[in-house]
Amino acid sequence: MDKVNSILKYISFRRKAVSKYKIHSPFVYDFIINVLEDKKEYPEYSILDALRDGYYKNRMPVEVIDFGAVAGRNKYESYYRNVSDIAKKSGQRREYTHLLFRILRYFQPDRILELGTSLGLSTSSFSLARPQAVIDTIEGCSGVASLAKENFEKNNFNNIQIHIGSFEKILPDLLKGLGTLDFVYFDGNHRKSATLDYFQQCLQKVNNDTIFVFDDIYWSKGMTGAWEEIKSHQQVSVSIDLFQLGIVFFRKESAKQDFILKY
Ligand SMILES: C[S@@+](CC[C@H](N)C(=O)[O-])C[C@H]1O[C@@H](n2cnc3c(N)ncnc32)[C@H](O)[C@@H]1O
Repeated sequence: MDKVNSILKYISFRRKAVSKYKIHSPFVYDFIINVLEDKKEYPEYSILDALRDGYYKNRMPVEVIDFGAVAGRNKYESYYRNVSDIAKKSGQRREYTHLLFRILRYFQPDRILELGTSLGLSTSSFSLARPQAVIDTIEGCSGVASLAKENFEKNNFNNIQIHIGSFEKILPDLLKGLGTLDFVYFDGNHRKSATLDYFQQCLQKVNNDTIFVFDDIYWSKGMTGAWEEIKSHQQVSVSIDLFQLGIVFFRKESAKQDFILKY
């Protein structure tokens, strides 16, 4: 997304976004108070920040194989990039790893799936928030995946299983072996059709309390189109748009409603 487009989309988002004072849903109000507005400095934040700082200082070159939208029409694209650049370009930003930590800490999911590990910054936030959960994460690029794995081991994040390979190959078999999923983070291959395909596959595994989080919902026209379709899906009850992240819930007790929240 070019810079001007991105600024225009953000301005339009800010115009529509509302604060907690306009929210009548107790579920969403509680989410704002306990997650978005939780200003506590959790000790886990310093572990996440140290992990990021370590990556930012690491100039080691890694062969990156990109299966996602970056590859354009090709199946994948391969190039060398140093760890620091990968962390800056692909890794989740500090405030959002903290936010993901708080979302998981608040909802306490037991079965977690992530599409797109990269260096494992978001995965680490899941493990710190839910050390008792079972976390599966998929990454297509073996170079970055081994760095993530190294860090999971170093930090004793023992509840993370990393699967190396394309989502297209790994996801169907992985889902077959799983019961329901409580939390899924979609953070790779930002193409509309691919995002909708992963959504449909994971939809087969939702329960009443499942949460899906989509990263970069305004990254491109395609991603915004995918987000529009996802939030209007009949199984989705509540959707929350935070601009960087789109969150959907499947709670039957909540009326169907879309929220655009100031964050
Ligand atoms: C934005 S990064 C993930 C960032 C990570 N979740 C974090 O917050 O630190 C997206 C990752 O998805 C991977 N990816 C994209 N498309 C993929 C595909 N089709 N199969 C497997 N991995 C893919 C890329 O290699 C990249 O590392």
